[in-house]
Amino acid sequence: MPESSGQIDNVMHEDRLFPPTAEFAGQAHIKSPAEYQALWEQAAADPAAFWAELAREELHWFEPFTEALVWKEPHAQWFVGGKTNVSTNCLDRNIAQGLGDRLAILWEGEPGDSRSLTYAELQRQVCQAANCFRQLGVGPGDVVSIYMPLVPELVIAMLACARIGAVHSVIFAGFSAEAIADRNNDAQAKLQITADGGWRRGKILPLKATVDEALAKSPTVENCIVLDRVHQDVPMQAGRDYWWHALMAEADTECPAAPQDSEAPLFILYTSGSTGKPKGILHTTAGYNLYAKKTFQWVFDHQPEDVYWCTADCGWITGHSYLVYGPLAAGATCLMYEGAPNYPDESRFWQLIEKYQVTIFYTAPTAIRAFIKWGDQHVEKHDLSSLRLLGTVGEGINPEAWMWYHEKIGGQRCPIVDTWWQTETGGIMLSPLPGAIATKPGSCTKPLPGILPAIVNQAGQPVEPNQGGWLTVTHPWPGMLRGIWGDPERYQEVYWSRVPGHYLAGDNARCDEDGYYWIMGRIDDVLNVSGHRLSTIEIESALVSHPQVAEAAAVGRPDDLKGEAVAVFVTVKDAQPDDQLRESLKLHVRHEIGALAQPDDIRFTAALPKTRSGKIMRRLLKDIAAGKETVGDSTTLEDLNVLTNLGDGDK
Ligand code: PRX
Repeated sequence: MPESSGQIDNVMHEDRLFPPTAEFAGQAHIKSPAEYQALWEQAAADPAAFWAELAREELHWFEPFTEALVWKEPHAQWFVGGKTNVSTNCLDRNIAQGLGDRLAILWEGEPGDSRSLTYAELQRQVCQAANCFRQLGVGPGDVVSIYMPLVPELVIAMLACARIGAVHSVIFAGFSAEAIADRNNDAQAKLQITADGGWRRGKILPLKATVDEALAKSPTVENCIVLDRVHQDVPMQAGRDYWWHALMAEADTECPAAPQDSEAPLFILYTSGSTGKPKGILHTTAGYNLYAKKTFQWVFDHQPEDVYWCTADCGWITGHSYLVYGPLAAGATCLMYEGAPNYPDESRFWQLIEKYQVTIFYTAPTAIRAFIKWGDQHVEKHDLSSLRLLGTVGEGINPEAWMWYHEKIGGQRCPIVDTWWQTETGGIMLSPLPGAIATKPGSCTKPLPGILPAIVNQAGQPVEPNQGGWLTVTHPWPGMLRGIWGDPERYQEVYWSRVPGHYLAGDNARCDEDGYYWIMGRIDDVLNVSGHRLSTIEIESALVSHPQVAEAAAVGRPDDLKGEAVAVFVTVKDAQPDDQLRESLKLHVRHEIGALAQPDDIRFTAALPKTRSGKIMRRLLKDIAAGKETVGDSTTLEDLNVLTNLGDGDK
């Protein structure tokens, strides 16, 4: 909760409007505002019936479902009684429809090596991997922890879990050994999958070494499969560790998919909330699969000849829904790139678009801001005329970055879909349908069919147009999270308790007079750093676990590239508050959480400003971190001197 929880001011005024070109709208699945409106209204009139019809059309059913939705707030069950399998929907169903020879994955490694897999080839490898996992004792409901670079085997591992009813937990390969162990223990993971290393900006990330450290603290993990990605000589623990290629060489290429209940867990994905403990967001089988597929088709207006590139890593929800499950269920051809956008130089992405003739490009605003900074010369060297649609995700895009994307990358002809959603929502919730909705730079525009949002005040009442309030959703949807792994109370409390009958997203938003949504930032202590969620309390806990730290407060401050940077205020025990300690604290946070959480600014202070009830005054700290004057009423400060000292403090 913000300390200033009164009115939320709207300071953005943007009235540029970009309708789709007649050419784009003409070929689109949904061609006009009227068509969108009719579909949205049909869905809103009876969402369960709307989704049930789509589920029958779009998924393969071993056994049909008997009820579309059973809703006992806060627990939703979709397509009850049905049996399906996500890997069947992504592979076998497409192959049966004649797409076996279509390219599923076009992959390029950072050093420039490349591979491609057709749907039939992908299916064979998924079956082999599924057989390997079974051979190591993995069965339905067992959790498989995946810590890998962005290589085809990561997708193969995810789909292989789905094939046998195992539950994957993908951990982004930038997280630390501590973070892996925490997640493995919370999920009670049985099998670990990793690689010897991965490439990042020309260097090798020592993934197996990190996993070895994590597994020393992950007692439930019995085995570890290691992909030979970078040909490093890594220690293999006899009886525990196996090479991926050695197991695969022996494995059968057939593995009939195990029919799964619609509500069988498909994956857990950890994300930060407003406490120190990451939440294991649970997604299940049929509803998630349908939602990822349909939203992919609507938002990216997918056509059979498209080459689609989502730059996200599978360590995040965007990689799950729009690199793997959505596009593969829709039979799309997906480009995957392992490495950094500025390796060997800043034109790598544009070179890839030209080389693979990418038609749809989906990336994050933080990347767009980096491209702008690197300069147009990198873009201008390449022919980007294959592109027909652009997307963004992860944070709001400021209108000027939107205009650059539109002009320099989209050549003024490509619609931009600004997609608002969350790990919890499973798929895109608010976004233009690119052939139907005119876009406004900085707005994620309208709800998708079947999604019923409401912006409410703290009493749960709808607010007027253009007034800020809490973004909520009033009806369950198939892609919604089903819970927090092992913590039903937290699920109820975080998402369903503040506004009865509404899902609380945790974002502020406003809706303008045309029904367009504008996201205004988080309502809780969650930071958005380069499009990734970090909890201030997680960073504070990491700092306080350093032997020299007495107390710490973390806040976000605006940053041109990352959106938000991490600023921390630290009181030390009896150490010297100097640069050496500053470096040691940065390394400590890297070690505890991972590089993405490393503080950008560290200020040492004699004490933290607190209210009389002992609450850290974050609003004041935020202003100090941003270099603004401290504003507002500070008379409740325990020690007014603290504020002055902080302002002068060493950055
Ligand atoms: O604050 C919103 C922001 O990212 C949060 C969700 O983060 P995560 O679960 O990591 O998922 C990111 C990828 C889906 C949201 O609560 N966010 C995401 N997309 C947008 C956004 N903020 C503004 N505009 C967006 N398009």
